[in-house]
Amino acid sequence: MSPKRVAILISGGGSNMVSLVRSMQEPGPGGEAHAGMPCLVLSNQPGAGGLERAKEMGVPTAVVDHRPFKGDRVAFEDALSARLHFEGAEIVCLAGFMRILTTHFVSEWQGKMLNIHPSLLPKYRGLHTHARALEAGEAEHGCTVHEVTPELDEGPILGQARLPILAGDTPESLAARVLVQEHRLYPAVLRRFAAGDREPVFLSQD
Ligand code: GAR
Repeated sequence: MSPKRVAILISGGGSNMVSLVRSMQEPGPGGEAHAGMPCLVLSNQPGAGGLERAKEMGVPTAVVDHRPFKGDRVAFEDALSARLHFEGAEIVCLAGFMRILTTHFVSEWQGKMLNIHPSLLPKYRGLHTHARALEAGEAEHGCTVHEVTPELDEGPILGQARLPILAGDTPESLAARVLVQEHRLYPAVLRRFAAGDREPVFLSQD
């Protein structure tokens, strides 16, 4: 079977995108081929650093800037979908894509669209997750990959990686350690998902 075409949506540096692309370009732990291949890296921010990184890895890139749509979310989402269909995308990975997507877009891609979120969902949906986990005095924190459904940061959980919060952690130090785990978790989940396996992946820090 030919590999599933995977589009990755970013808004910034794209470190998760890099880990996903690399994982699709490498054989699996048992030497098996990946069931996905990167077909497109798309950003809503023309200056996103991840676009250059994708080009260096030989992946086609596109920009669909949300600003000219002046708040018309449906028109923006139609442009996104059109670009994804043009590349024949079969799986969509949100990787630091910082636009809220409406039911209009989500219902079209539901079951084929994943997101990574920097908290142990259902805790800390939304922004500033690391600061909020610290303020709450949590003993542990982490990241989650989930299927995207219309509610923000909801949807079936496909994987979580957890790590302890250390004395003296700041939002920045915690974010950096969570990001290392994001780069382990998202490729592990995508490898399974592309092969049709939705069994969740649970990782703890090495
Ligand atoms: C990641 O930490 C990701 O979990 C987060 O944005 C960062 C993007 O980094 N996503 C969200 O907060 C989505 N709600 P990256 O561009 O280096 O992958």
